[in-house]
Amino acid sequence: MNQDFFAQSLLPQEWPGIHYFDEQEANAVHQVLKAKSPFRFYGPNLLNEASQFENELSQFLGVTYCLGVSSGTAALQIALSAIDVGVGDEVLIPGYFWVATVSAVIRNGAIPRLVDVDDSFSLDPDDLKKKIGPRTKAVIMVHMGGIVGRVDLVKKICDEHGLFLIEDCAQSIGASQSKKMSGSFGDIATFSFQLNKNITAGEGGAIATNNEVLYKKALAVHDLGYPRNEFGRLVLNDFSRWGIGSRMSEITAAILRVQLKKLPVIIETMRNFNLKLQKILNDRSIVTRTIIDSNGFSGGFLEVILDTDIKAKIFKEVLLSNGAKGGQNSLYPIVMTEWGLHIYYNIGSLVEKKSFSGNSSVWELQENLFGKSYTYDKGTLPHLDSLISRTVIFCIASKLTEAQKDIIERAMLLACMAVKAEVNEILC
Ligand SMILES: Cc1ncc(COP(=O)(O)O)c(C=O)c1O
Repeated sequence: MNQDFFAQSLLPQEWPGIHYFDEQEANAVHQVLKAKSPFRFYGPNLLNEASQFENELSQFLGVTYCLGVSSGTAALQIALSAIDVGVGDEVLIPGYFWVATVSAVIRNGAIPRLVDVDDSFSLDPDDLKKKIGPRTKAVIMVHMGGIVGRVDLVKKICDEHGLFLIEDCAQSIGASQSKKMSGSFGDIATFSFQLNKNITAGEGGAIATNNEVLYKKALAVHDLGYPRNEFGRLVLNDFSRWGIGSRMSEITAAILRVQLKKLPVIIETMRNFNLKLQKILNDRSIVTRTIIDSNGFSGGFLEVILDTDIKAKIFKEVLLSNGAKGGQNSLYPIVMTEWGLHIYYNIGSLVEKKSFSGNSSVWELQENLFGKSYTYDKGTLPHLDSLISRTVIFCIASKLTEAQKDIIERAMLLACMAVKAEVNEILC
């Protein structure tokens, strides 16, 4: 296979949901437009897409309450507000996340404290125990790349210390562990439906919880801080808290209702091919990320862990030069240190403890002085630092032809051979 062949057959990109867009999504949007009712609380002919989506998502996740919101970032801030996280509180988070996970903590006025990861690239329960202090109020577990880490242990630790557990499921909708869906383990969970997620409407988010009080607080915060009556009008004399105006639109919900039905197929497709590639690698003694439940991960990412940084670079280059690369502005494959705002020390505003508004930063507030000595620069989380410099992350597209799968399998085999041989000449 020559370079021209590869150029013509660039792989589909890493946006799982849109590869499944068809006339069903188009029709769902059209219905909302025809009804002239894109706002979820009232309109001339309200179709109640948002509330139907919330019911369907609750059923899918096996939780009592879901709330559609405008983004995963908003969902995180709302969830933190619902559990009353604010100035004087500390929230424990992993160092492998997305910038939104930490920015939500800071926007709520609290102090983020970093916890190292284990071989599942998720919160390390041992380091978590060490980091809990008198001001810790909540733990955010981020199910990165659709893999749920050691959530039972994390939940047990949270319960023993009276801490709230928030699951950031932005990257894990549809993933599960022991047949329990991600988003149903903790006190409250957040989701994103931005383009890169397992299902998408371009933008969107959701909150899930079994707790009625948390749901009601989230409902008020996501809107204008007040509850609404049965006609969707604000009940002004019943103030609950400040709102952030992050409602889900009927158009977003209509698309997501269709996408949610397609989610099992999307996940199964990614997971099956991911498992096939893992077998190819593991059979050749190449280590991949630990998956606690291989029947439950959502499969969109494959993390290959090499012994050294040099081998990681060789592995990546061999994949690239043998056609295992998505089209146009696709990022993958990359060595994980290159993965921008997913890695704590790449976030300059965190490392430098910048303020939210230009005034005092949260670390300078009197009530938060307990967090003054916390650091966020490289070296803070030694295990994560060592893992990511040796790990290549590759994105598994949600629709691949057999020919495209062949290209990827062949490139993986060649990459294995290259790192085994440790000779750079093999780079094409
Ligand atoms: C782990 C994680 N949390 C939160 C978010 C934020 O979601 P959104 O882009 O919808 O605000 C993302 C989005 O990439 C994410 O990956």
